[in-house]
Amino acid sequence: MKENNQEKLTDFGFEKIAESEKEAHVKEVFDEVAPKYDLMNDVLSFGLHRQWKRDAVNTAKVRPDMKVLDIAGGTGDMSLLIAPRLGKNGQLWLTDINHEMLKIGKQRLQKKGFQPEVCYCDAERLPFKEESFDLVIVAFGLRNMTHKDTALSEMYRVLKKGGRVLVLEFSKASRFLSPFYDFYSFKVMPFLASRITGRPENYRYLVESIRMHPNQQTLAKIMRSVGFEDVSWKNYSFGITALHSGYKN
Ligand SMILES: C[S@@+](CC[C@H](N)C(=O)[O-])C[C@H]1O[C@@H](n2cnc3c(N)ncnc32)[C@H](O)[C@@H]1O
Repeated sequence: MKENNQEKLTDFGFEKIAESEKEAHVKEVFDEVAPKYDLMNDVLSFGLHRQWKRDAVNTAKVRPDMKVLDIAGGTGDMSLLIAPRLGKNGQLWLTDINHEMLKIGKQRLQKKGFQPEVCYCDAERLPFKEESFDLVIVAFGLRNMTHKDTALSEMYRVLKKGGRVLVLEFSKASRFLSPFYDFYSFKVMPFLASRITGRPENYRYLVESIRMHPNQQTLAKIMRSVGFEDVSWKNYSFGITALHSGYKN
């Protein structure tokens, strides 16, 4: 698209679009993938996403009395791992900008007997007061956000002092893996997505958005720039994904 009226452009996968259009495009993608999202995660990652998520929640060291915010929580995988660790004084908020994903997430949690607080909201404009949460977690959500620094600032704002943010996201895979990973991402994944969902274009966006996401060092830098301290990360599966951690001291 043309750069009209000086409007800033942003990435939508490998495409450049006006910043104001990204949110709607991302919503459309997740509206369409929602019904098969969980199945596709298992198929495309060979079940690895479950290990990454489990380790992320173990790293969080959830205590029963914690107040936890699951941002871009979607169909609730992270919340499902967190909920059993919280006691009656704990609180869990499942949030997302997509109604379809949230609806599935809420139903999955309720089926397991959990009653999370559910909130439809944009991570860039969180409807919570300063210093509300002990733990903020965002899994595979940040790369879809238009202004990652704004979303991270919001996470910082709503964290209590001493609180922690954990960002689980695709990242920069090791060099030796690149040829295989590229072949898998750009050839095998679209094929599987078209066979299973009939909508390969949505998965093309997901693959492209992974490549456009900041690498481990850059994301750590952005986290520090909005105030997080003791920022660190660990790689999973040779850097295909990484878990970044930061504190509000
Ligand atoms: C790949 S899914 C991840 C869902 C879940 N956290 C998981 O790990 O399975 C990405 C989610 O990010 C949500 N999302 C994208 N942009 C968002 C924003 N600005 N604010 C909140 N959620 C957003 C999407 O609606 C989608 O549910």
